[in-house]
Amino acid sequence: IAQKKLRIAVIPGDGIGKEVMPLGVSCLKAAALKFDLSLEFTEFDFASCDYYFKHGDMLPKDWKSILLGYDAIYFGAVGMPDLVPDHVTLWGSLLKFRREFDQYISLRPCRLMPGVPSPLRNKKPGDIDFWVVRENTEGEYSSIGGKMFENTDREVVCQETIMTRIGVDRVLRYALNLANSRPKRHLTSATKSNGISITMPYWDERLKALTKEGNYADLNIDKFHIDILTAWMVLKPEQFDVVVGSNLFGDILSDLGPACTGTIGIAPSGNINPEGRFPSLFEPVHGSAPDIYGKGIANPVGMIWAGQMMLEHFGFKDAALAMLKAIEEVLAKGEPHILTPDMGGSTGTTKTLGAAIERNILGK
Ligand code: NAI
Ligand code: MG
Repeated sequence: IAQKKLRIAVIPGDGIGKEVMPLGVSCLKAAALKFDLSLEFTEFDFASCDYYFKHGDMLPKDWKSILLGYDAIYFGAVGMPDLVPDHVTLWGSLLKFRREFDQYISLRPCRLMPGVPSPLRNKKPGDIDFWVVRENTEGEYSSIGGKMFENTDREVVCQETIMTRIGVDRVLRYALNLANSRPKRHLTSATKSNGISITMPYWDERLKALTKEGNYADLNIDKFHIDILTAWMVLKPEQFDVVVGSNLFGDILSDLGPACTGTIGIAPSGNINPEGRFPSLFEPVHGSAPDIYGKGIANPVGMIWAGQMMLEHFGFKDAALAMLKAIEEVLAKGEPHILTPDMGGSTGTTKTLGAAIERNILGK
């Protein structure tokens, strides 16, 4: 559903997050200008190590009420492991957003872009084009469990997988609807009901129950055990359209899928609360890359593509399509003085690549 106005909280974070964010914002502004969208950007300095050193915490006390005033969070990256331990930065910011805003869908496109060599042999743009939908709040990543008889011969640990009907149904339904909206209309479900004999059969059972609902009648649905599914993703990625998995399986697939399409610098991801009760978060997959921070050569495409996903999520279809086309056309040209070094560029920088995409969006 297209909204009239989108209020966006901009959080650059740390490292190259601060370098790629300005290009992401300028490309979104270009799309807004071209397609007459009303996008409102408000930048925040929290969720960064700079903020942490100033205030002793990653976030202000009232972060939740502040961010609730926005439709979306446009997020760079967080973490400076040499200055602050990663568990402090990550758990103190990004993971709080994901949990407390019930962003129960993690969404990643796996699309082979022109000019990006795939690590898989003989794959060309168009061959790999699917989405991974991951359950993002429960499943295998639960806090139910414990340890007993520590440091004795009887030492025992256990951790339970939690699947709720609400949790399973809502991620499956999101994936079904996404598949329904695409030309191939094909959903693949990751399971392991042969080995994990209670929760995974339940996952399969719920999928079956939901597909009986009218609008999915002639959707093409299959399921694979996770082990062979990972093999197929490498051997024959052409067969996938939308792939849905539990928290653990989805985690693995959402790294494997984009890895089959080349460089980490271009992959985006969405952490989505589909009902919009809370803001959804869009970010590049990469982190703060301290090793290249300050050189101005970080690839801005992941950040820009995350902005593209944000527009698509909120129903700005034409603008989203134009942004995707702009990324593709600029990458396809393959100009060394435009592309960043990770894409085989020579003198290209974060700014030259971002500005080329911005110009393309504007139709210049
Ligand atoms: P990283 O993604 O920051 O870097 C991995 C490698 O990829 C580095 O060699 C880096 O130079 C390169 N790279 C990453 N993004 C690039 C880009 N846009 N253009 C060109 N090259 C790029 O992962 P790493 O090194 O494991 O983590 C660094 C910090 O980032 C840590 O503190 C980590 O916790 C944090 N991190 C944060 C994430 C987030 O905010 N969502 C995600 C992943 C890591
Ligand atoms: Mg992961």
